[in-house]
Amino acid sequence: MKITVIGTGYVGLVSGVCFSEFGFDVVCVDNNVAKITALQRGDIPLYEPGLDKLLLKNIQAERLSFSTDAKESVRDADIVFIAVGTPSKSDGSADLSCVYQAVDELAASVNKDAVLVIKSTVPVGTTRAVKNFLLNRGVKLDVVFNPEFLKEGAAVEDFMHPDRVILGVESERAREILSHVYRPLYVFNIPIVFTSLETAELSKYASNAFLAMKITFINEIANLCECCGADVNEVALAMGLDKRIGDQFLQAGPGYGGSCFPKDTSALEDFAHKLGAAMPLVNETIRSNGDRRQRMVEKILQACDHDVKGKNISVLGVTFKADTDDMRDSPSIDIIEELIKRGARIKIYDPSFSKQAEKIFSDVVWSKNAYDNCSDADAVVIITDWSEFRALNLKELRHRVRNPLLIDLRSMYPVSEVKASGFAYCSVGRGFEKLES
Ligand code: UDX
Repeated sequence: MKITVIGTGYVGLVSGVCFSEFGFDVVCVDNNVAKITALQRGDIPLYEPGLDKLLLKNIQAERLSFSTDAKESVRDADIVFIAVGTPSKSDGSADLSCVYQAVDELAASVNKDAVLVIKSTVPVGTTRAVKNFLLNRGVKLDVVFNPEFLKEGAAVEDFMHPDRVILGVESERAREILSHVYRPLYVFNIPIVFTSLETAELSKYASNAFLAMKITFINEIANLCECCGADVNEVALAMGLDKRIGDQFLQAGPGYGGSCFPKDTSALEDFAHKLGAAMPLVNETIRSNGDRRQRMVEKILQACDHDVKGKNISVLGVTFKADTDDMRDSPSIDIIEELIKRGARIKIYDPSFSKQAEKIFSDVVWSKNAYDNCSDADAVVIITDWSEFRALNLKELRHRVRNPLLIDLRSMYPVSEVKASGFAYCSVGRGFEKLES
């Protein structure tokens, strides 16, 4: 069976590589010539642990290839996945221009027996609209919606061991063909949910919006903890032991970022509103998460006696989460820009050495490791939850800094451990711990 994947972003590239690992012949297509040339060399233009090994293995096995020619690449494909971006427009709605550009391109030459699978996150009704768009062009295809649930930094693992596969299908033939494609997952007893196109489309938005809401909820509980002396990490533990709640996505922090939660919550709120189904919870999630960045700035200012002018602030981690180089909608952008506006001198260390970050932050100093980054610091601020920040040698840091103040926006340390190392400790959801006199 031959699979063509259109779009080589996080979703398209991971999906194409993993389908080739399943043993299928896969062509990944993109209109970005430089990206395709790099991929043909085996160079990956994104930071995704484990993807490079799989990519090289399947290129060498001649199961995986890359092309900029969509028309040619769909001619003899049995299945065509569309995994192009659907970014937010200024009004919050999903921009579907790349989806329709891909459909328009393939319509002329697609194998008439192919199944077209949309994997991009699209508003409810889009898959059916694409099917009709093709019919109006005289092309009758089985069209399927198959959402992805890939977390950046864990995308290969999430693809190979998903909690479920969701397939919106409208024919027995499409059901059989897609069952065959995902059969390698049967060994892990992964449930496959067959449903309607609309249900599959909404399941994706509902899942992401719920996760965004869950994070925002624990962040609001963290705010309350700072007023009443409770510990948000312990509250999260106590909550998460309830199977109905679950212990995932209850880590308080600076708020969610990334390319999905912000985009998908806005798109859901937009198309729900247009359909007359108000979603105040999603609305409030968007607002509350947006406000959280300013709250983090105020936390830092309070810890720095309300004045950062001329102070050296060592920032550890700027990507929107650990194990990625992605800066899209990262809380660090708003936080650092505001600190610079107030006169702080910023040094940054991020383990991904993100090129995106270097383009965003111009007037900062970059370091090669956490310890150098903390030299002469008046405050150390942890923004991203990279594993290497969970066990810093605080005694070593104490000798490096000019002022022993650790502001941990991911609450990664026990309060007592930080105080014992001579630091004043400020975290999320656990109140401000003054250095004992
Ligand atoms: C998300 C969804 O998890 C994934 O299923 C979907 O396919 C794409 O969007 P991603 O955005 O890559 O994945 O990362 P995720 O791990 O979900 O984190 C999103 C944001 O939430 C990050 O900013 C992260 O720091 C934050 N987060 C996550 C928390 O603040 N607390 C948590 O407990 C978990």
